[in-house]
Amino acid sequence: MSYVPHTAADQEAMLAAIGASSVKDLFCDVPERHRYPKFDLPEPLSEMEILAELRDLGEQNADLDHYLCFLGAGAYNHFVPSVIDHVISRSEFYTAYTPYQPEISQGTLQTIFEYQSMICALTGMDVANASHYDGATALAEAVIMALNIGRNKKKKIVLSANIHPEYRQVVRTYTQGLNLEIAGDEEPGQDLASLIDGDTCCVAVQNPDFFGQLSTLSDMQALADAAHAVKALFIVVADPISLGLFKAPGDYGADIVLGEGQALGNALNFGGPYLGYFACREKYARKMAGRLVGQTVDNRGQRGFVMTFVAREQHIRRERATSNICSNQALNALAAGVYLAALGKQGLRQVAELSYHKAHYAARRIAEIPGFELAGDGPFFKEFAVHCPLPVQILNDELLEEWGIIGGFDLGRFYPERNGQALFCITEMNSKEEIDYLIKALMRDDLSLPEVSEADLFRHYLRLSQLNWCVDKGIYPLGSCTMKYNPKVNEVAARLPGFTRTHPYQDHCTVQGNLRLMYRLQEYLKEISGFAAVTLQPSAGAHGEFTGILAMRAYHQANDDTRRVKVLIPDSAHGTNPATTAMGGLQVVQIPSDERGNVDLEALKTECDDTVIGLMLTNPNTLGLFEEHLLEVVDLIHNCGGLVYGDGANLNAIMGIAKPATFGFDVMHFNLHKTFATPHGGGGPGSGPVGVSRRLAKYLPGPIVVEEECSDCDCGHDHDKEPCYHLQMPDASVGRVKAFYGNFGVLVRAYTYIRSLGAEGLRQAAENAVLNANYLQARLKGMLCIPHADRTCMHEFVAQGQLEGAEGVHTLDIAKRLMDLGHAHPPTIYFPLIVPEALMIEPTETESKETLDQFVADIEQIAGEARTNPELLHDAPHNTPVGRLDEVRAARQPILRWTPPGK
Ligand SMILES: Cc1ncc(COP(=O)(O)O)c(C=O)c1O
Repeated sequence: MSYVPHTAADQEAMLAAIGASSVKDLFCDVPERHRYPKFDLPEPLSEMEILAELRDLGEQNADLDHYLCFLGAGAYNHFVPSVIDHVISRSEFYTAYTPYQPEISQGTLQTIFEYQSMICALTGMDVANASHYDGATALAEAVIMALNIGRNKKKKIVLSANIHPEYRQVVRTYTQGLNLEIAGDEEPGQDLASLIDGDTCCVAVQNPDFFGQLSTLSDMQALADAAHAVKALFIVVADPISLGLFKAPGDYGADIVLGEGQALGNALNFGGPYLGYFACREKYARKMAGRLVGQTVDNRGQRGFVMTFVAREQHIRRERATSNICSNQALNALAAGVYLAALGKQGLRQVAELSYHKAHYAARRIAEIPGFELAGDGPFFKEFAVHCPLPVQILNDELLEEWGIIGGFDLGRFYPERNGQALFCITEMNSKEEIDYLIKALMRDDLSLPEVSEADLFRHYLRLSQLNWCVDKGIYPLGSCTMKYNPKVNEVAARLPGFTRTHPYQDHCTVQGNLRLMYRLQEYLKEISGFAAVTLQPSAGAHGEFTGILAMRAYHQANDDTRRVKVLIPDSAHGTNPATTAMGGLQVVQIPSDERGNVDLEALKTECDDTVIGLMLTNPNTLGLFEEHLLEVVDLIHNCGGLVYGDGANLNAIMGIAKPATFGFDVMHFNLHKTFATPHGGGGPGSGPVGVSRRLAKYLPGPIVVEEECSDCDCGHDHDKEPCYHLQMPDASVGRVKAFYGNFGVLVRAYTYIRSLGAEGLRQAAENAVLNANYLQARLKGMLCIPHADRTCMHEFVAQGQLEGAEGVHTLDIAKRLMDLGHAHPPTIYFPLIVPEALMIEPTETESKETLDQFVADIEQIAGEARTNPELLHDAPHNTPVGRLDEVRAARQPILRWTPPGK
């Protein structure tokens, strides 16, 4: 299936308008010796073939539709009501980008506002953001937030050892450049209160903890009081299902409540995409990372919603931002919102009660079996640890082989002192008999969640979806975001139960299909980019950047090159680049651009010395231009001992045309949600794999999938014919950057896309993306000012919303008026910051000539209106569900959650 709409005649007409004789000419800025390399990917498959291949991979897994499962440990097999998939699959939610233009994104914005309100109700907090990559990264961000609130003066973190071990690993990975002391998690059972002192900025606990145990309210309150006594924050990690039953952490002194939101209506999906939910007290709202939606009014006095407090985000504050997060897990947050609304307070309580009762019933029965004994006698929620009479691995092998049961989690994996103990998890999906325990003392009184029928619920979300613009509706030329068509076969593949119903902690023998897919994807990305190694772990581009920066830092530290602290970043860089550098505890040095839109070589030379960690370079850059002195820039950095980080967000322009590693790049992240056509879901999930050169491979975060000859495992395949796939931590890994293995569901979609297109299809996608951009640039040249129109652009270009004869009209007015005409989403506006009144236009390869011509006609009409009737533009949009929204009011008088009338 081709996703490029042009006929040969279209192509010819477009090349004539550009003044080029062939598409290949458009790549003249790519150094000749690196152009059109051998590109060795498997032949493309038809839709029928690819689905057969994916089904086969799925069937190589032991999925939960075919096996009973008692694994939990941070990923939970709760029931997912059918209505959720129907809502989130609405194209208007699914194929939209982050809601930058609020007047045509009210659906997404209102659902986020509702999600925020429900998370606040659940946690007892005042404000909630629209998600982190997962529970683990939410905890790392909470710790960094606490540091910032303490103005980076208090450097101690008290972390309970009963927090999910992978979360604690992620905290260590995130904070390795920040010079902190982490206390309390060396061994379980420490008296955390005794570790708190004047240097402590936060105390973090999990309740119910990793072992499923519940703390008493008085213990929690006492710890909160001890933290508050030294002005430290009290952070609670909580299973959101448990909050349907037990007291909200806000009731016992929490300042930040966060956790893994997967259990709220998201499939297990072999560890991702999940979502980190995050809520805090109102006084800390402006220090919170991530996207936040607020209520405001439009110029007609109607209620509406906008993203608010944007001034604290990376795209405005750059290295002074609260975090580097950009894409998040918005679609998963939507699923969580629908789940909470669908179940309501009664339903959520019922799920929690069922899980609780069934878990207690199971625990009692297991304890009655000779040789088994409960490990601990305190209260617990839906998980409990059991001493087993034989090693857990042997027990689990037997359960799987003889009974078709995926047993409990082997606690010895993270806690050597708990060797021989299995952590069993029971949810409403498991055992059948009900047991009635009296738990009133721990129960919460009321919970402010909706109580609606499924019909009303679905109509609500359907109506909201219709307020959004999305790729399935029309062209979405949002520069830097690569909003191309999302092929439907990817969705069928990613929803196969063989993938969605697998638990991330299953034994590797039972998930060979998943691991094989991940391994192949690693290999394909290596081939496309030319890098020696790839990790699939990062959840988004910014997450990949952070991973890359940590690997670069680790490389220099391993060489005892500790003087290196500077990261050079061109002024055209995306805001995530400086924000990432700052998060890594490194120093940002901005390099200006020259008059042709390249890095200013002279300025660069003056900064190249032995304190340079490296350069972060987007190429093609954010002006849509290929760096003309690329090889010289790379040499300058290498000659001073630095490394080159390539921001690969714009890979769509050059995939198949050149391999970035051959330019000399040492690291690069991919944005799978841009280049490889996975839907952005109104803000995420994305996926940001990172490729590195050989010398950096051992620093990658893990685990990574490796292919191994092995003869003694139980994978069930013919070891003589097929290798086995394992998860492995690289030798000198910087650590984990998230729990589990990456946004697996997104990986399946990207894999399907690459298999559908093959090498030639990917190359054609890049060629046509560049053709479309040059065609639009040529057609718009006379209408808009385009600073670098003398150059061939790559997949996008930057124009300016300044029109002769219409001096009072601005980029914002043009963007808003475009919405009225109903054919297009506006381009990215006011980015890159170095171009005044920027309009960044990226049509992508999936738009036809007819669509591009309509876009040109719209701009022509608007340019005319700007001169004859500027008021029409100043007041635009007129035909959208809400008028121009007051974003200043949203930030000054924040309304960040729904409250019942009169409260
Ligand atoms: C050039 C560039 N780098 C990095 C990013 C960050 O990617 P993500 O939103 O996936 O974190 C973006 C996102 O728009 C980008 O355009």
